[in-house]
Amino acid sequence: MKINQARQLVQQAVYEALKNLDEITISPEQVQQMVEIPKNSQLGDFAFPTFRLAKQLHQAPVKIAQNLAKEVDSSQFAQVCAQGPYVNFFLQRKDIAATTIEEVIKQKNNFGNSTVGANSVVTIDMSSPNIAKPMSMGHLRSTVIGNSIALILDKLNYHPVKINHLGDWGTQFGKLMVAYKKWGSEADVKKDPITNLQKYYVKFHKLDKEHPELDEEAREWFKKLENGDEEATQLWQWFRSESLKSFMKVYDELGIKFDSYNGEAFYNDKMDEILDLLEHKGLLQESKGAEIVDLGSDLPPALIKKSDGATLYITRDLAAALYRKRTYHFKKSLYVVGSEQSIHFEQLKAVLAKMGFTWAQDIEHIKFGLITANGKKLSTREGRVILLENVLHDSVQLAQEQIAEKNPTLANKDQVAHAVGVGAVIFHDLKNNRTDNFDFNLEEVVRFEGETGPYVQYTHARAMSILRKAGPQAQDEAAVFDTDVDDVTWDILKHLANFPETVQQAAQLREPSVIAKYALHLAKSFNHYYAQTKVLVDDDQLAARLNLVQAVAIVLKEALRLLGVQAPDEM
Ligand code: ARG
Repeated sequence: MKINQARQLVQQAVYEALKNLDEITISPEQVQQMVEIPKNSQLGDFAFPTFRLAKQLHQAPVKIAQNLAKEVDSSQFAQVCAQGPYVNFFLQRKDIAATTIEEVIKQKNNFGNSTVGANSVVTIDMSSPNIAKPMSMGHLRSTVIGNSIALILDKLNYHPVKINHLGDWGTQFGKLMVAYKKWGSEADVKKDPITNLQKYYVKFHKLDKEHPELDEEAREWFKKLENGDEEATQLWQWFRSESLKSFMKVYDELGIKFDSYNGEAFYNDKMDEILDLLEHKGLLQESKGAEIVDLGSDLPPALIKKSDGATLYITRDLAAALYRKRTYHFKKSLYVVGSEQSIHFEQLKAVLAKMGFTWAQDIEHIKFGLITANGKKLSTREGRVILLENVLHDSVQLAQEQIAEKNPTLANKDQVAHAVGVGAVIFHDLKNNRTDNFDFNLEEVVRFEGETGPYVQYTHARAMSILRKAGPQAQDEAAVFDTDVDDVTWDILKHLANFPETVQQAAQLREPSVIAKYALHLAKSFNHYYAQTKVLVDDDQLAARLNLVQAVAIVLKEALRLLGVQAPDEM
């Protein structure tokens, strides 16, 4: 029996028993809603609270629970008993244990898959760093959260399309061109594009206060770029491709790929249509020489076109939204972008709705919180920066040190250290509710104990090592427990059985942390089990125990995969 079927059994039993108490009218649906899972598993696998029946029955809840427990047909359960105002149900474990383990082992990494998505497209705007600037921790968050949401949706048979909306257009390119022509060198840009382009940009900003003519030159260069001037276009293309190359290094490290790199510039020739539509619908208003769309009292007006004719961030997003709808026919369109851009996305939806696009309601801003350092907001200007490349590099190095200490003879050490170091950074990000702010502390990220990625990876590797030690001749996929299933084993089993629902919940909430927390909990349960059970003793339950271990390894690895984290077999 599956655990969901067991739940139905409980509902059925309660409903039948209640029917026998003739003062009461209650529907099966009401019973269904009332059955709950006790916080403390000592109190049973399911519980039925009786508070809400007190009025109808003119009885105290405790009394009702006692009567009901007697009335319930308990033949299908290990035990049914009243405890205070609750009727507690204990399931017959053996049967559910066998079904659950068999299902996991048969389906392997497909356990938890579903067809609910019906192949419908979900576009995911994610990562989207700005050209010629370093990729920030915020962009890292967007990248790993977006990637995990894509993996989770894919498991449920949605078709995710990952779009990197690169910040590759805007007045900053004018400044960059002026700075490069004055102080730059081709060799330096080639050697380290991000650092050097950033350096030029910073220098420009240091000097332009005293030399306002610099700003004038920058404006001219940007205008040249907008008008397709050859030199300006070439420089822009070069800056873009050099920056992208260095972003690609980070994506490669993370093992993340995109379906599209259409950035802001891609929409240059697609904004006229938006402006025409807005004009045609009478939505554009003039305000101090600029064109705006008024959004009522709830939202600030959307600034569509500046007084000098330049289009803006939101204008590009309007064009991008329409382009995505036409190109991908999305069912949902997600934007994984920091909470600080909330107003922007509300405006985007509001303008699209005013334009008459009913699919505006399918746009979702998937917000996330800030990463802080020692409780303080990161700030490029104040020098509080965490450079992403350093983070990944340092994390891999720390992992290397840990492995050298714990398992010096490990084969392919470097590969494992990479999986652990990078996995640690990703997991640390994804274990928090995405809207929470969190503090970044590298040592904490890479710890093998506590609530970390390496801890989950290590638990998976431990399970794999048990299976290796046992050897294939000790294993038998058909073996089931035929003694009582103890509490610790039962805790793992219930958890395994919950995985499919957990994936669905993570998808609905667009919340990878649901999976990360699940993985931590399963790892903890398994380590608890391992500490108190001699798995590799050669008795008649050995093969059944090995099946449990295998099921845990499968689900831990799959949970990590859904986060974009690898699970080495040995570490
Ligand atoms: N480049 C922007 C930034 O770094 C993020 C873009 C998000 N995506 C979008 N379609 N607006 O802030």
